[in-house]
Amino acid sequence: MYPQFPPGFRFGMSTSAYQIEGAADTGGKGPSIWDTFTARPGTVRNGQDGRVAIDHYHRYESDIALIAAAGVQDYRFSFSWPRVLGGDLGFYDRLVDSILENGLRPVPTLYHWDLPQELEDAGGWMNRDTAHRLADYASTLALRLGDRVRDWITMNEMNVHTLYGYALADHAPARGLGLGALPAGHHQLLAHGLAVQVLRTHGARGVGVASQHFPVTSATESAEDVAAATLFSDLTNWTFSDPILLGDYPSELIRAGVGVPDAQLDRDLELIGARLDFYGVNYYEPTMIEAPKAGKDYSGVLEVDIPDGMPFSPVPVKSDERTDFGWAIVPSGLTEILVTLKKRYPSLPPVIITENGASFHDAPPGPDGRVHDERRIAYLDAHLSAVSDAISAGVRVDGYYVWSAIDNFEWAAGFDERFGLIYVDFDDLSRTPKDSYYWYQELIKAQARN
Ligand code: FCB
Repeated sequence: MYPQFPPGFRFGMSTSAYQIEGAADTGGKGPSIWDTFTARPGTVRNGQDGRVAIDHYHRYESDIALIAAAGVQDYRFSFSWPRVLGGDLGFYDRLVDSILENGLRPVPTLYHWDLPQELEDAGGWMNRDTAHRLADYASTLALRLGDRVRDWITMNEMNVHTLYGYALADHAPARGLGLGALPAGHHQLLAHGLAVQVLRTHGARGVGVASQHFPVTSATESAEDVAAATLFSDLTNWTFSDPILLGDYPSELIRAGVGVPDAQLDRDLELIGARLDFYGVNYYEPTMIEAPKAGKDYSGVLEVDIPDGMPFSPVPVKSDERTDFGWAIVPSGLTEILVTLKKRYPSLPPVIITENGASFHDAPPGPDGRVHDERRIAYLDAHLSAVSDAISAGVRVDGYYVWSAIDNFEWAAGFDERFGLIYVDFDDLSRTPKDSYYWYQELIKAQARN
């Protein structure tokens, strides 16, 4: 019934700080760019925000126990940079202890999009100095937790943060810079490179990054469409992986766009290209692109709209099935992108799927006390098969983490989009494992028996 995974394959679940912690002003924590963004009317569906989120800050012990009871080996979470900056390292001490006491391996991400507002005020990721500030922050965390945390993820989805937050204005910090946002991407990559160095100096065992990747196909074979799709994929896939895995940007246009003088760029790229112990891949859906056709309405195809005047436009991917978030369900896209990564990067480190999952608008627990989410089970099952296919095709994949352990604040979409294996009642904040949670538990048990 279930695909077989190699011995030692690790199952996990993922979350991120802003999406679950809440406690927005507790323990000296200052605002992050997401606190600022969500406070602005019209930015998030239903005017919601992560000030309380699911109050994980106060409920972490029972949350971790519930996650562990599913039988997963790894738990991926992220640190809130403004919380650490405010001096509240005690929370992460207790959290990491609880993760370890429950027999889980902590795999934290340093940066999952919640930049301290004071750093945004100083230019945010458009300012090169932010990369050095991230290195200081990495060092603070490694000094405090390095005796217990051995495996680290530097950055989450630098492509999405750059595109939605800096090129467009759909996520914090809503800069809307268009292609002028490329320096924000470069500075995050530099931050990644600096953090790898810092973490290794402090004795880290495993260091990786979590990158979102997806196949981009051209709507037709016309030269214009193919060129548009290539440019889009360069900007959203390869700009954030070629420097890490090949040591250079995918094109001259992008090299020039990041705005760093040549000699310095070469030094930066050397740092960014440092060997990694694992490469995290987040996968949700593929994208189809065409060259913009005059007068055609492209709104609503992607979760965010690409403004007029850009040289590419997204068109709906052909797929019979969609999640309740509207994302196309294409499991073969995961196999395809893994095989593509392996071909493109001969030195690709072992891959961990650091995020994969689906939002369905689950009904609350019924009279039987259960949350029946068979569509999520089907989604996860099909994507695990896709991972297994990639392994058969020669890609080394060492683990798979579901996004997400628990329902949470889904950025600009607020609380409507439920990705969790654990259901949360957003009124009383009670937790109920969904059927998918029990399914995952069984799957992990069955793997262990084999
Ligand atoms: C990814 C993000 C994660 C979550 C999922 C659904 O892009 O990394 O925080 O929002 O999408």
